[in-house]
Order: sequence, then structure tokens, then C-alpha cells
Amino acid sequence: MDTVSFSLEGQVALVTGASRGIGHDLVLALAGAGAHTIAGVRRTDDAARLLAQVRAAGGSASAVALDVTDHASIEAAVAAVEADHGRIDVLVNNAGLGFNHDALDVTEADWDQIMDVNLKGLFFVTQAVARGMVARGYGRVVNLGSQAGEVGIRRHAVYSASKGGVDLLTKVLALEWAPHGVTVNTVAPTYAYTPGTADRLDDPAVAADILARIPTGRFASTADVAAAVLYLASPSSGMVTGTVLPVDGGWTAQ
Ligand SMILES: NC(=O)c1ccc[n+]([C@@H]2O[C@H](COP(=O)([O-])OP(=O)(O)OC[C@H]3O[C@@H](n4cnc5c(N)ncnc54)[C@H](OP(=O)(O)O)[C@@H]3O)[C@@H](O)[C@H]2O)c1
Repeated sequence: MDTVSFSLEGQVALVTGASRGIGHDLVLALAGAGAHTIAGVRRTDDAARLLAQVRAAGGSASAVALDVTDHASIEAAVAAVEADHGRIDVLVNNAGLGFNHDALDVTEADWDQIMDVNLKGLFFVTQAVARGMVARGYGRVVNLGSQAGEVGIRRHAVYSASKGGVDLLTKVLALEWAPHGVTVNTVAPTYAYTPGTADRLDDPAVAADILARIPTGRFASTADVAAAVLYLASPSSGMVTGTVLPVDGGWTAQ
């Protein structure tokens, strides 16, 4: 049998939107698995404490300025990482926005803001990173989707459309890059408590309503999400591509 390895020792990983929330904890997890992990953040000062935390735990990490809605920023960040580290083996597209509206209240600005980060930004970061992956014949791309990209949830019109788009991008990119050793997959969590969801989950009525719909009876943790990301980022997941892995406690099984 071939060796099964979930280690990322010697690899280079980039996480977008790493200043806080899930992205922050994914940097800890990927560095903990052995990758030199680069925190993509809009303001590099925002990563100082995170980098110190990684180093205190014996890991290796650095930060790069990256706004996923700014093409020049994307190109500069990818060039800087490749210049410093030679390559990017693992890309985690985590940056995302998730505010909700009744569909009748959505403005064009709301639509553009969410789509520009969650779908357009994700695509162009992936394109920039995958050029090198395809050329080198190896890569792991893991996207943060959502259960809201799998099933309808009221007041999520734009967010759901963006995350459903991520699912289809995942399949197309997986097909195009499979012959080049590059896998593309999506992790689709249920609600996890982060700065991006705190205002909703701190409301007891909202939290109770959500928990009633999660069969496991709890929110996802960032560790639940990280476990799925680590698997899809690992060398041993090479036959898994174009998939969406729910980390939703059974929400979408209903
Ligand atoms: N938490 C959940 O319940 C949940 C559930 C399903 C899916 N997800 C997905 O998981 C991902 C992370 O969610 P989260 O809850 O951790 O979010 P969060 O706490 O709101 O953090 C979002 C992160 O994205 C970054 N970001 C926003 N716009 C950006 C841009 N233009 N360029 C670069 N980075 C940008 C933010 O950076 P700044 O600090 O600079 O603003 C921040 O680091 C998102 O894709 C989200 O849709 C979350």
C-alpha cells in the first residue's frame, strides 16, 4: 500500500482572509501540520499576534498583504510569496463576506460587495496561484463554501448565490487541472462562531432557531472546519477533486 500522509511538512500554504475567524485558525492548523503558512491579510499588522502564536507553537508562518477584490494586490501577493518561498502548494480560499437581507431589500452595492469577495475574488486568486501549481504539476486548492450554497436559506439570496457559484467553480477548475496534479475542493460548513457571525449567534432566539436545524445540536467549531481543510490539503487526498465536503452537522442531510 502507498503511504498515507496528512503531513504538510516542507509545503507552502497560503490562506486568504486570515486576520480573524476561520482563516486565522486555519493558519494555526496548517502550520501545525508542518506547512510554512502565509496569512493573506488586508493589513499585515493584523497578523502580528497570529504569527507570534504560530512561532510559539513551533510552527512557521509569515504574512502577505492581500485584498482579494484588487487584481494588483492579488498579483503582487502571489509574486511575493513565490519569490520568497519558490512556490505555493496549498491555497485555502477563505476570505468571505456573509451579511443577510430579505431578497426584496438587496441593493446592487450589496450584491457587488459579496460577489466581489466570495466569488470573483476567489476565482482570480485561484487563477493567479494555479498558474504555478499547474506548471509544477502539484497543488491543492480548498475553498470555503457554505451549507447556504447547497440548500436554500431565507435571507441568504446573494450569499447563497455566491457560495453556489463556488461549488460550480470547484467542479470546473477540478476538471481543467486534474491532469496537472492540482485538486480543487470545497468545504461547506454550517454556522461557526466567528467575528463574522457573532452578532447573529449572540442573539439567543437566532441561535436557538439555528441549533434546532443542526442535527448534531451544536455549531461547527473552527477545528471542525480545519480538520476537513487539512484532509483536502494533504498529499493523500489526490483522488478527491471537484467535491463539496459538508461540515454541517447534518443540516443538508435533511
Ligand atoms: N462562520 C460561519 O458560520 C461560516 C459558515 C459557512 C461558511 N463560512 C465561510 O468561511 C469563511 C470565513 O468565515 P468567517 O466566519 O471566519 O468570517 P469573518 O470572521 O467575517 O472573517 C472574514 C475574513 O475575510 C477577510 N476579508 C473580507 N474581505 C476581504 C477582501 N476583500 N480581501 C481579503 N480578505 C478579506 C476579512 O479580513 P478583514 O479583517 O481585513 O476584514 C476576515 O479575515 C467565509 O468564506 C465564510 O463565508 C463561514
